Amino acid sequence: MVQKVDKIWLDGKYVNWDDANVHILTHSLHYGLGVFEGVRCYQLSNGKSGFFRLKEHLRRLHDSAKMFWLEPTFSTEELIEKSIELFKINKLKEGYLRPLIFIGDGAMGLYAIDNPLRTALIAWPWGAYLGEDGVKNGIRVKVSSFNRLSMNVHLPKAKASGNYINSILAKREAMLSGFQEAIMLDAEGYVAEASGENIFVIRDGVVRTPPAASSILNGITRLSAIQILKDLNIPIVEEKIVREDLYICDEVFLTGTAAEITPVREIDHHVVGTGKPGPITSAVQTRFFEATKGNVPEYQDWLEIF
Ligand SMILES: Cc1ncc(COP(=O)(O)O)c(C=O)c1O
Repeated sequence: MVQKVDKIWLDGKYVNWDDANVHILTHSLHYGLGVFEGVRCYQLSNGKSGFFRLKEHLRRLHDSAKMFWLEPTFSTEELIEKSIELFKINKLKEGYLRPLIFIGDGAMGLYAIDNPLRTALIAWPWGAYLGEDGVKNGIRVKVSSFNRLSMNVHLPKAKASGNYINSILAKREAMLSGFQEAIMLDAEGYVAEASGENIFVIRDGVVRTPPAASSILNGITRLSAIQILKDLNIPIVEEKIVREDLYICDEVFLTGTAAEITPVREIDHHVVGTGKPGPITSAVQTRFFEATKGNVPEYQDWLEIF
């Protein structure tokens, strides 16, 4: 259950958590067109708070909106200001931020281009998405029987609400089968990503991740991990990965705002490496968590501090 806080910011106003309701004819509820983000806010070592790469997340929110001819009502600058205010009003030092742009009620039918666009910022406390134990010791994953949505059928680069039906299918199938997460292949059979995370695969000291120009979400944690790997002088290449690579690699980790950096210890009952998080995964994870605490001067600009 989401832990309630006091206020939600909805269409420019603060409303009580329990009053942030919408009409049943809200267009997005019927057809799934909405765009959203997930952003973490961390408590820093100096006691302040910092949103992790908030500007990049809000830019992607507006990019996602643009892909569907949605004209955002609020600028990214306004949303930054309101996100900070929302955390202060709710006395949250750290937590998760969910910006959401959705289509309100008015016309029904698919076109409905004149329906009001609605905007919400919601904050709540949220721990490790794949569990504390998962972050520490790694998780067990399954290659999904569902392919990741593909180009020209959907827009995989958009963080759009409806895109997540595909992820939910994979996630539920994996969890109901006793795994913690699903790895999805693209329509051609290449490894794409997990249901809510990007994937990195390591063998013989070389890290590989599927290219940006494939059916993946351009993860902001993915970009951060690539930067960290480069700065640690660990070879990182963006290239196509096949299922066999998953079964014979030394290390695998997943990246995402919710999952942060989560090691994978088993894929389809194949043990990954030694079955414990490997040295490259641990190095990336350590530097990432240090960055989120504001302890790495090179990555200070990743934080929106307040
Ligand atoms: C499908 C999918 N891929 C990847 C990611 C990771 O993206 P980010 O690191 O920007 O959170 C997410 C999470 O937002 C996601 O939902």
